[in-house]
Amino acid sequence: MQAITISEAGGPEVLEWAERADPEVGPGEVLVDVAASAVNRADLLQRRGLYPPPRGASDVPGLECSGTIAAVGEGVTEHRVGDRVCALLAGGGYAQRVAVPAGQVLPVPDGVDLVDAAGLPEVACTVWSNVVMIAGLRRGEVLLVHGGSGGIGTHAIQVGVALGATVAATARGERLEVCRELGAQIAVDYRDEDFVAVVREATGGHGADVVLDNMGAAYLERNVEVLATGGRLAIIGLQGGVRGELNVGMLLGKRGIVSATNLRNRPVYGPDGKAAIVAEVGKRLWPLVAAGRVRPVVHARVPMADAAQAHRILEAGGVVGKVLLVNDGA
Ligand SMILES: NC(=O)c1ccc[n+]([C@@H]2O[C@H](COP(=O)([O-])OP(=O)(O)OC[C@H]3O[C@@H](n4cnc5c(N)ncnc54)[C@H](OP(=O)(O)O)[C@@H]3O)[C@@H](O)[C@H]2O)c1
Repeated sequence: MQAITISEAGGPEVLEWAERADPEVGPGEVLVDVAASAVNRADLLQRRGLYPPPRGASDVPGLECSGTIAAVGEGVTEHRVGDRVCALLAGGGYAQRVAVPAGQVLPVPDGVDLVDAAGLPEVACTVWSNVVMIAGLRRGEVLLVHGGSGGIGTHAIQVGVALGATVAATARGERLEVCRELGAQIAVDYRDEDFVAVVREATGGHGADVVLDNMGAAYLERNVEVLATGGRLAIIGLQGGVRGELNVGMLLGKRGIVSATNLRNRPVYGPDGKAAIVAEVGKRLWPLVAAGRVRPVVHARVPMADAAQAHRILEAGGVVGKVLLVNDGA
């Protein structure tokens, strides 16, 4: 088969479409004929040599895919050859075929195009695990989504709205309008507005019950400031650095909780594993997707062999939703 290979750490030009050995399908795994994959920020770091794949994972980049099951390994009973699926991967998605543990595979939600489904597993599992399973967002609460026009952000806004929350989002320029169209009632320009002041004022001084944060250190202090009493800050990204100052006194006074998690390094099975998140997503989020209340937001479709171009698009910023990598014939 062919797949994207990272010949050496560097810029987008190091991504090469090259011949690779077909993946072997092990016990408990399925083999997927990949229709499409999607670009994640982690892939950009991996390409630059800053985020090596976890032990045992493929060195081919790609944390998600959609496609058709081509073979099932020993012991797999819940999937069949020919099923249209999408999957959360530890790597290997930028390829024509990938082997994946059965517990990380989801059906393509009803009404969703097979290629568009490639951009769902990462955002769905990240948003659902953080906003719902960890932070426990409840109907009527206020959810603040940073980076509201990005892949995660466009999904998180819709999930918050579907769950009956009031959603606030940070973005810039005309992309604030995208956040509003997706249902955000409060939109803050991160370049020249103070999200703490805007969210407090718009919520009558209450603040945010849940914050989904992509900025890490740069926003830590202000994220604690914007929390309502009993608020939960879920950090998923480090775009603003890793070392910040946490005002523990303020956090304690608010009875606040700060969490920071990632998906990729979780085990497949067990209470903290990917399969447990995938199962919850299939049970509780997929019906919202099938009902059209949460839809995939796609910025661009790029041929898989041109992955370098797709990386350049994400690196340039200003992306609305997901950048997909599409295999020939999909
Ligand atoms: N922990 C996990 O398991 C996990 C899983 C998936 C993703 N992530 C992380 O989640 C983050 C979002 O991922 P993604 O796929 O949505 O990436 P993305 O599509 O590139 O979105 C990143 C967003 O950050 C916005 N941004 C840039 N500077 C900002 C600022 N100062 N304040 C607020 N927003 C700002 C960008 O806006 P502009 O376009 O206007 O620049 C863009 O909308 C990344 O950091 C990624 O690594 C974590």
